[in-house]
Amino acid sequence: MTQGIGYAHGKIILMGEHAVVYGEPAVAIPFPAVKIKATVEKNQGKTSIDCLFYKGLVDEMPELLESLHKAIDISLQKIKKNDWLTIKIESTIPAERGMGSSAAVAVAVTRAIFDYYDCSLTDEQLLEIVNEAEKIAHGNPSGLDALMTSSHVPYYYIKNQELSPFDLNLHGVLVVGDTGITGKTKEAVQDVADKVKHSPETYGADIRALGQLARESLYFLENDLPEELGKHMSAVHKLLRDLGVSSKELEQLITAALSAGALGAKLTGGGRGGCMIALGKDKKHGIDIAQSLANAGAAETWIFEMNGGSIID
Ligand code: PMV
Repeated sequence: MTQGIGYAHGKIILMGEHAVVYGEPAVAIPFPAVKIKATVEKNQGKTSIDCLFYKGLVDEMPELLESLHKAIDISLQKIKKNDWLTIKIESTIPAERGMGSSAAVAVAVTRAIFDYYDCSLTDEQLLEIVNEAEKIAHGNPSGLDALMTSSHVPYYYIKNQELSPFDLNLHGVLVVGDTGITGKTKEAVQDVADKVKHSPETYGADIRALGQLARESLYFLENDLPEELGKHMSAVHKLLRDLGVSSKELEQLITAALSAGALGAKLTGGGRGGCMIALGKDKKHGIDIAQSLANAGAAETWIFEMNGGSIID
């Protein structure tokens, strides 16, 4: 094999970010509007990386890419190889914006390395490698990012429990707005942990409320109840704001989406920057919401029609 290839895509957490770390459910969908491709070839010198934000030796990679480094090391250990490789990464997933970019990079590169050596890689092995690597990026990852950036179906996800895909039967439009500010997932996860530890009555209750909203939302998604889902999205956002993981820029975009008539809006992913999502009734409504987000300073917007069908393009 002269070249190995691996793919992954972005993900959107509809409900349950942060709470999922504490064993509460999350609801998430793959988001293939943003994608990543990794290619692996033999190298004569040391292992090197070529991607948008770094070109150079793996051993000298910036901290941002440490989990990628770990994924490469674990993959090579599992395959029992220590060759030098050239790894090229082409990505349209914005980094550190709550779309699971670090997990997606690790998924694509792990797949490419196994492909290069013509080794089989089960979904379980892939998740094990990527979750191990993600401990560096996140500290205490729930495993949701690794699953969602590598799979093609929506999941109702509870950490360490059997995986539970669900049918997305909702008619509506999801609008994603990027603040253009990098999110701070590791820091936000740590701050939430401190809050829960020091004031379990207040913040532990917020975590449980987030779990309950995710549980109820699954029914709305499966039974095409967009108005109800929208209300739950906004309720989730209030709780996430109480937990301290929103930001000025996220609030601006969420206010803009709601004033354009969105059925609901919330941050998505780790927060403190990154992306927000809003629910619209139909494509025209989605375009209005996206326009309102752009006017409020969104760096980028995506409109995703759910239409009760498959979300894979
Ligand atoms: O910011 P992202 O895309 O890495 O999403 C983080 C999601 C959290 O629930 C905050 C953390 C986790 O490990 O699930």
